[in-house]
Amino acid sequence: MGFDVAAAAYDAFMGRYARRLSAQFVEFAGVAADQRVLDVGCGPGTLTVELVGRLGPASVAAVDPSGSFVEAARSRMPGVDIRRASAEALPFESASFDAAVAQLVVHFMPDPVAGLREMARVTRIGGAIAASVWDHAGGFGPLGTFWSVAREVHPGVVDESNLPGARGGHLSQLFEAAGLASVIETSLVADLEHPTFEEWWGPFTHGVGPAGAYVQSLDPGHRAALRDRCRTVLGDGPFVIPARAWAARGQA
Ligand SMILES: C[S@@+](CC[C@H](N)C(=O)[O-])C[C@H]1O[C@@H](n2cnc3c(N)ncnc32)[C@H](O)[C@@H]1O
Repeated sequence: MGFDVAAAAYDAFMGRYARRLSAQFVEFAGVAADQRVLDVGCGPGTLTVELVGRLGPASVAAVDPSGSFVEAARSRMPGVDIRRASAEALPFESASFDAAVAQLVVHFMPDPVAGLREMARVTRIGGAIAASVWDHAGGFGPLGTFWSVAREVHPGVVDESNLPGARGGHLSQLFEAAGLASVIETSLVADLEHPTFEEWWGPFTHGVGPAGAYVQSLDPGHRAALRDRCRTVLGDGPFVIPARAWAARGQA
């Protein structure tokens, strides 16, 4: 999947957009100061840092299946209960939390409905479950230009547009399938200006996520063709990359 990578590689590639999403997402989830919250698929801790800043380390727990990310998150946030686990099998008693949140994770879950059900199980009845996924299907996620060029130079490439939750309305459907109540969906925007083409492109070569894995799978000639076509489309910089996410919220 491309998440067994160094935290610094994730931060440079996707963390740069995820950081801008975190505060909005926590507000949308309705997390309040006196709550105990679980961050599912925490990665190196982008959203966890935001939660700890609001709630304190003792009121936040986090899980991720990637060993390198769990280690990085633990060293960044001592005092936070961070475990290696997947959404589909959460290592917590039922009703342990007031809310469970998953930022940019549902589309990577092998069984999103089971993952959301587990998030509801470990949350008290009536507590909030919230998730966000980039708008990969609409092309307004932060990888929109990249995948559009990849499809042009490599017809048939498997992009991220068909992943669960990546099209408007699909997160809500998954929430409802998981039995969540009072489901609402919105979009959040985390557009980012890149100073130069190199600053934008460099992190794509670090192997993070499906896009990074795809770049690493290319031979040098095809990789250069992809990079050069991206530069033609985007220019040398500065340029703004749109980063729109779908976000859904429901009640356990
Ligand atoms: C794009 S990153 C998001 C990380 C972090 N939430 C953020 O906002 O920066 C996706 C994360 O989902 C994790 N992940 C993949 N499959 C998962 C699953 N089944 N359950 C929980 N997390 C999963 C990956 O290891 C990775 O850390």
